[in-house]
Amino acid sequence: MLPTIGSKELITLLPTLLESQKVLIPKIAYPSYQVSGLVSKSEVVEVDIASDTWPDGDLAWVNTPSNPTGRVHSEAELNANIAWARSGARVLAVDECYVPFPDSKKPFSIFSLTNGDNRNIIAAHSLSKRSNLAGYRAGFIFGDPKIVNQLLEVRKHLGLMMPLPVQAAMVAALSDETHVLEQSARYVARRKVMASALVATGFKIEFSEAGLYIWCSRSEGDWELVSWFAERGILTTPGSFYGQAGKQHIRISLTATDKNIAAAADRIRQG
Ligand SMILES: Cc1ncc(COP(=O)(O)O)c(C=O)c1O
Repeated sequence: MLPTIGSKELITLLPTLLESQKVLIPKIAYPSYQVSGLVSKSEVVEVDIASDTWPDGDLAWVNTPSNPTGRVHSEAELNANIAWARSGARVLAVDECYVPFPDSKKPFSIFSLTNGDNRNIIAAHSLSKRSNLAGYRAGFIFGDPKIVNQLLEVRKHLGLMMPLPVQAAMVAALSDETHVLEQSARYVARRKVMASALVATGFKIEFSEAGLYIWCSRSEGDWELVSWFAERGILTTPGSFYGQAGKQHIRISLTATDKNIAAAADRIRQG
């Protein structure tokens, strides 16, 4: 296991540190995977989760539950991703930062599928999500000891060590599950309030099975939808921020307070 200064720095630096020439990223994804390829000047290929369609490559990013879609990838899909990584000298990096937040589906770590065999795989976690510690910059990876050690060796020369007080805060946060369960219950309740208002106003919700987001569409394009919500005082994210495949969708975050989520849902219902 290796602490990271949040998970974003690890994500954006990983292909550089592993000297990956070709990086596979999800078609609809958190933008830092794309940025990681720009930083390392690697070839970036956008792929679906089904790895029988994946080309050759050195590194593949998978994000479950996904930001922005809230999709929880299936055991069969993740097992196929593992097989892809192990069919060569490849790395499967799984961003699991939303695993602590189940809803209609229960997310699970890639390592629940590997029977203790960590070869070719690392998983990234973030306390920004699990414990709302975004300002602390606290994350960690674990998995294949060869990869973790290789990263440790280079990262210490880059000064990417986590300050001791942040490590202590991380130990305290990771030693407690109560706050995670409380926060998780809040997201479930907020999703219910928001989803029923959206459905009543003609929106179609896709995936949104876990994590912090609702991924939805109506007949308009993403920016028209963003404007529709903005006119009602609600800030949403256009789906095209996450790749061209997202341009008919928007992402709604469930991180506002319960009171503001309820007020936003009322305004949506008024049409
Ligand atoms: C999928 C995903 N991974 C990683 C991060 C980065 O989180 P942090 O750098 O705060 O750990 C985010 C933040 O939004 C995210 O959505």
